[in-house]
Amino acid sequence: KNITLDITKASCFLAEGAVAAFEPKVKAAQEALENGTCPGNDFLGWLHLPSSITPAFLAEIQACADTLRQNCEVVVVAGIGGSYLGARAVIEALGNSFAWLIQDKKNPTILFAGNNIGEDYLFEMTEYLKDKKFGVINISKSGTTTETALTFRLLKKQCEAQRGKDEAKKVIVAVTDAKRGAARTCADKEGYKSFIIPDNVGGRFSVLTPVGLLPIACAGFDIKALVEGAQDMEKACGKDVPFSENLAAQYAAVRNGLYQSGKKIEIMVNYQPKLHFFSEWWKQLYGESEGKDGKGIFPASVDFTTDLHSMGQWIQEGERTIFETVISIEEPEKKLLFPSDEENLDGLNFLAGKRVDEVNKMAELGTRLAHVDGGVPNMRINVPKLNEYYIGQLIYFFEIACGISGNVLGVNPFNQPGVEAYKKNMFALLDKPGYEAESKAIKERLAK
Ligand code: PA5
Repeated sequence: KNITLDITKASCFLAEGAVAAFEPKVKAAQEALENGTCPGNDFLGWLHLPSSITPAFLAEIQACADTLRQNCEVVVVAGIGGSYLGARAVIEALGNSFAWLIQDKKNPTILFAGNNIGEDYLFEMTEYLKDKKFGVINISKSGTTTETALTFRLLKKQCEAQRGKDEAKKVIVAVTDAKRGAARTCADKEGYKSFIIPDNVGGRFSVLTPVGLLPIACAGFDIKALVEGAQDMEKACGKDVPFSENLAAQYAAVRNGLYQSGKKIEIMVNYQPKLHFFSEWWKQLYGESEGKDGKGIFPASVDFTTDLHSMGQWIQEGERTIFETVISIEEPEKKLLFPSDEENLDGLNFLAGKRVDEVNKMAELGTRLAHVDGGVPNMRINVPKLNEYYIGQLIYFFEIACGISGNVLGVNPFNQPGVEAYKKNMFALLDKPGYEAESKAIKERLAK
C-alpha cells in the first residue's frame, strides 16, 4: 500500500481537461530530469539516490549512530536549511511529542542548533549541556555557513572542556563535503568520524544522505524502513509510470494549473502536530526551489485544528489566491477513547466511546468541505500510518514532484542565488576579511 493523492477537490477549480493538458510538459520535465538535460543538471544526485543506497552504507551510518547513542545523553545536531530541516522533520514526526520530558530514556535527547544566531538560544543551550554527556553532529555541505560554524565552535570547545579532547573525538561527527570547507579541514585534522555529502545533491534534497540519516538513526528510528519507503516511491513516480497514475506528475500538474489560474499561495495542512516540521521541510524544498526569476508559488503551512482558531478565518474568507494540500494520516499509532461522564456537564457525551481520531477526522472532513465551498482548492495526500516507511515515501514524492514542478514552471529548481544577498551584507557589516570594498560601500550607504 502506498500513499495516495486525491486531486478531485482541486481539479474541479480548473477548466475541464486542464490537468491532462499538462501531460506533455510534465513528461518533458521528467525526461529532462532523467536525461540530465534540465537546468541545474549537476544537482540531480537525489533522483536515484534511494535505489543507490546499499545495506553496507546504512550499516556504517547505524554503527556511527550506535556509538553516539551509547556515549551520549544528548546529541546536538548543528546545521541549517537543508542541513537541518529534513532530520528535524522526520525525528519530530516519528518521536514522542514529549520526548524531551521523558526521563527513562532509551534514546538520547536530540537538540537542534546552528540554525539561528540567537544569543539567548545559544546561551541557554550551553547552560543546558553543562552537566550532560553530549555529542555533536556538525552538518554543513559548504562547511562555512556562519550560523552552523559559529555554533559548532561553541559546542566543540564545550564538549572538549567537559569530556576531554580524546573522548570528544569519539562523539563529534562531521557530515560535509569530501574535500572543501572548514568543516572538512577540522574533521580531518581532529580525526573525527565523517560522512560525505555528495557534490550532486543540494542541501534541501539531502535528507536521504547522512545529513538526515545519521541524526534520524541517532534518535532511534529505522533508517532502513525510511529508505525502503523512498525506494518504493522512486518506482511509483518513475518516468514510465503513466501520467494519470503518477502521484508526483499529478501533483506537479495540479499546482502549476492552479498557479496559472491565480492561486499564488499553497498552504500545507496537517492535523497532527507532529508534522509541523515536516511542513517546514516542505516549505524550504518548494520555496527555495521555485521562488526565483520573479515566479513561484509561495509555500505556507498551518497546523490544524490549532490554526483553524487563528488562520482559519483568512483561509475561509480572505483573498482567494490560495489552495491547500492536506497531509492526512489514516491511522494514528496510539489509541485513546473519549470517556463517558455521568453528569455530562460539558455536553460531550455524544462523543463517548469514540476514538479521539474520529473527532479529528470529522474536523478534517468538515474543514475540507467548508474551505472548498469557500473557494479554496484542496488536494489531499493520504498516508496510511505515520511511520518510517511512509515518511520515506512522502520525502521522495515531494522531492520528485518538486523537480518536475520547477521544470514545468520554467526555473532552475536546484540553485538558490537569492540566499547570498543577506550573507554579503552581513559579512560587509561585520568587516569579514575579503569584504573590505563591500564594507566601505555599505557603511557609506547607511550613513546617508
Ligand atoms: O538547500 C540548500 O542548499 C540550503 O538550504 C543549505 O542547505 C543551507 O544553506 C546550509 O548550507 P550548508 O550545508 O552549506 O551549511
